[in-house]
Amino acid sequence: MEIKHQISLKTFNTFGINVQADNFVAIGSFDDLNQAFEHQLFAHKCLILGGGSNVLFTGDFAGTIFKNNLKGISILEQDDATVLIKAASGEIWHDLVMYCVQNNFAGVENLSLIPGTVGAAPMQNIGAYGVELIDVFESLSAFDVIEGTNRIFTKEECDFGYRSSVFKTIYKDRYFITDVTLRLSKSPVLNISYGAIKDVLAEKNIIHPTIKAISDAVIAIRKSKLPDPNILGNAGSFFKNPEIPESFYLQLKTTFPEMPGYPTAVGFTKVPAGWLIEQCGWKGKQVGNTGAHKNQALVLVNYGNATGAEIMQHAFTIQQSVQEKFGITIVPEVNLISYLVN
Ligand code: FAD
Ligand code: EPU
Repeated sequence: MEIKHQISLKTFNTFGINVQADNFVAIGSFDDLNQAFEHQLFAHKCLILGGGSNVLFTGDFAGTIFKNNLKGISILEQDDATVLIKAASGEIWHDLVMYCVQNNFAGVENLSLIPGTVGAAPMQNIGAYGVELIDVFESLSAFDVIEGTNRIFTKEECDFGYRSSVFKTIYKDRYFITDVTLRLSKSPVLNISYGAIKDVLAEKNIIHPTIKAISDAVIAIRKSKLPDPNILGNAGSFFKNPEIPESFYLQLKTTFPEMPGYPTAVGFTKVPAGWLIEQCGWKGKQVGNTGAHKNQALVLVNYGNATGAEIMQHAFTIQQSVQEKFGITIVPEVNLISYLVN
């Protein structure tokens, strides 16, 4: 295990923010984790980093970055109906999806092309196009950075919600997730509930889609509207879609009849934050080095030299304008990593 000092994080976050970390440690094995614990590296400010596709650094990081490089995918067991797959947390999520698609294991094809690592997927219960991680999740293993012990979490113990889990709330920064086990299906139960998927399949005259056809459709949709972080820095949706009481939604509809909304929990409606931001006039508008993307207003981008603080400030301005126009509070989905002093 090697500790590097004063490392630029520009290439380690998809926003492309150029901040420095005091210390940087690559974790490539359980041995590295144990050594880091023995050297008390977790006792100071630290951040576990996967692909850096859901973080915004708002200043230099006065602590230790643990870059996750744990690798390996294996089949634990299988029968005629299902297969249990265990993936090390440093594996690239999309590589795991491609492995499943190629082997005709159904369940994660709607989650194709989500950037980042397997280990971060439970963190916010990643979701897209009608499917969430919870739908295929079996269990995970994690290293307790306070106790130096390993723990297995069942689905119930993760307390998954919309873009949420215990790892984002009560256990924030407590556990280094080391591997994730998924239960996938050998007989495809395909989810084409999302309108855009149906449209792509119809365009291609696909009546009986395969797992691969769904994956291809999702990839095509994503490429058509989400900016590629290799070209334009971003971290996907900057805000969560707000869930408001249905009665409030119906009240708003009298003033804004076009406002889209989808029923979620009983008595609640989810409103697309992208629509709210677009209605406030932010879509495609560049402000300094940042702005809401021209194809997807929910995605804030870095036009080249933005600082994290600048993006944060703009996000706050957008948040305020949505609040003033609609009386709805939108909250960040991205993990804000603030300047930390030991
Ligand atoms: P990082 O950004 O490195 O980390 C995110 C958080 O997880 C941090 O708080 C970090 O400390 C923690 N973390 C990371 N690894 C571990 C670990 N092993 N153990 C414990 N904690 C850990 N998300 C969706 O849900 N759906 C989408 O459709 C989607 N689309 C996206 C599109 C684009 C273009 C981009 C850039 C992002 C998108 N995202 C989406 C967000 C992002 O891809 C996911 O949140 C992803 O899971 C983040 O993975 P990561 O490895 O990059 O995490
Ligand atoms: N919309 C607009 N203008 C915009 C963007 C969206 O009006 O600029 C409205 C439209 O009504 C559209 C609706 O919002 O029909 C939904 O848009 P989209 O299908 O693009 O999805 P989203 O709600 O904006 C969510 C996730 C994405 C995920 C997609 C697909 C959140 C915060 N975001 O976006 O996840 O890929 O659905 O399922 O839930 C991410 O988390 O980073 C992410 C990209």
